[in-house]
Amino acid sequence: MNGDPLHSLLRTRWLGRHLRRLERCRSTNDEAAAWAREGAPSGSIVVAEEQTGGRGRLGRTWHSPPGENLYFSAVLRPPLPPHRAPPITLAVAVAVAEAVESLGIEPELKWPNDLLVDGRKLCGILTEMTLAGGRIDFVIVGIGVNLHALAFPPELRERATSLRLLLGHDPDGERFVAELCLRLERWCERYVAEGAAPVVAAWKQRARLFGREVTVSGGREPVRGVAEDLDEDGALILRRPDGSAARVLAGEVS
Ligand code: BTN
Repeated sequence: MNGDPLHSLLRTRWLGRHLRRLERCRSTNDEAAAWAREGAPSGSIVVAEEQTGGRGRLGRTWHSPPGENLYFSAVLRPPLPPHRAPPITLAVAVAVAEAVESLGIEPELKWPNDLLVDGRKLCGILTEMTLAGGRIDFVIVGIGVNLHALAFPPELRERATSLRLLLGHDPDGERFVAELCLRLERWCERYVAEGAAPVVAAWKQRARLFGREVTVSGGREPVRGVAEDLDEDGALILRRPDGSAARVLAGEVS
C-alpha cells in the first residue's frame, strides 16, 4: 500500500488499508474472494484496470474495457448473522451515491442497486456472500463505476453514462476511490451499529420509484404493481392491481 497513489488520499481507518492493484483480471470479485479465502482482512480492496470476465447481476456480463472505468471489489467481514446481509447492498449503493454527490452529481437509486443519472446507468453493484458454519465468512461487494468512458458499445449507448460525460471533464479516479472508501466504511459501520433503518431511509431519499407502476422480472413470474415501499431487508413492496401486497427480494425493475 505504501507508495500507492491512494495512500496519501485515504481518510479511512480500515477500508482500503489493504489494496491489490491489478493490470488485468477476470473479475475483481473473484480476486477479492480468493484473497478473502487466504485470510484478507475486512476492508481489503482490489482495483483492476481491466476485467476480462466482468460479471453483473442475473448472470450478465459487465462491460470492462481497459483504463476507462472503475472495477473495484471490497472484502467485508461484518459481525452479523447471514439473514442480516441483504441491506449491505443498499448501504453500498448509498455510499457510492454519496461519493458521486461529492462531485456535484445527483444520482437516482434504482432498485435493487443501480445508480442512474438521467435514466442512464452510471454504476452497478454485485454483492456476493460466502458462509462458513452458518455464519458470514465474507461478503464481496463489487462496484463498477463508469469513470472516463466517452463512448459505449451499441447495446449500451442509450442506457449508460459516465462521470466524464456528466462532468464535462475527466474525474480524478484516485480521489474518487478514496471518497468511495470513506463513505463505504461509514455506511458499513453505521449499518452494523444502528441496523437497517438509517440505510433504508438514505436509500429511499434517492429513489424515484415509489408511487409508480412497475414490473419486476427475473423470478418465476413477473410481478406487476405500484411500488409502495422498501422494507428493512431491502425487499420491494408492491401493491398489485387486485389490492394485495407483494414482497420481492430480487429481480429487475422496468
Ligand atoms: C450489475 O449492475 O449488474 C452489477 C455490475 C457489477 C460490476 C462490478 S465491476 C467490479 C466487480 N467485478 C465484477 O465482475 N463485477 C463487479
